[in-house]
Amino acid sequence: MMGNKRAFLIVGNRAVTGKLNLNDLPGSAGRMDIMCRCIASALFLSHDVRRDVEVYLLLLGPPDPPKAVRVVGGKVRYMAPDERNIGGILSKALTVKVDKGWKQSTPGVYVARKSLEELLDELIKKYEVYYLREDGKDIRDVGFGENSLFILGDHIGVREDMEIVIEERCREIISIPTRKLQADHCIVIVHYELDRKQREGV
Ligand SMILES: C[S@@+](CC[C@H](N)C(=O)[O-])C[C@H]1O[C@@H](n2cnc3c(N)ncnc32)[C@H](O)[C@@H]1O
Repeated sequence: MMGNKRAFLIVGNRAVTGKLNLNDLPGSAGRMDIMCRCIASALFLSHDVRRDVEVYLLLLGPPDPPKAVRVVGGKVRYMAPDERNIGGILSKALTVKVDKGWKQSTPGVYVARKSLEELLDELIKKYEVYYLREDGKDIRDVGFGENSLFILGDHIGVREDMEIVIEERCREIISIPTRKLQADHCIVIVHYELDRKQREGV
């Protein structure tokens, strides 16, 4: 059976957890440009949105880490695929007073105080978890279940202590041969590979 629902979790090692300077997403916002591109790649088709996709960001930068953001493709409104627009929506989410439960900031966008462990323990109830790393099993050799969550790092990757948390909970480490890619490009390729498998009924 092939995946019906997909989710992506991107670790933002330095991505800020307060209001963003939209003129400086790559700098003072701690590479929030990567987070914005990952959301765009995960959710947007040409003139359409993937309604069966969720994106989770784990933001670990100052001033108030950790924060998790959840963007639900089927519910999101007023979002365009450009970094500035998505950055504005994230900035609003990051001014919400957070606790452990998800709070909606704008339609389809939620924020909570969650560590990687807490977030993954929640997500493994809904998804089979796959960790994307260069040395993993070729994505073409993996049989995916109904609902799959893919974890990716940002420009820094994923810290070793976090890898342990992920490896304890993931079904497989998977790779996209044969080069190290940017996280948002990986997301496009994951969609491509799963869309093909879905079309072929694999
Ligand atoms: C720009 S890369 C990380 C670079 C970082 N300096 C490192 O060496 O881990 C961003 C993320 O994309 C994913 N990634 C990049 N290339 C990949 C590949 N060929 N196969 C699987 N995942 C990949 C990984 O999750 C990685 O953490």
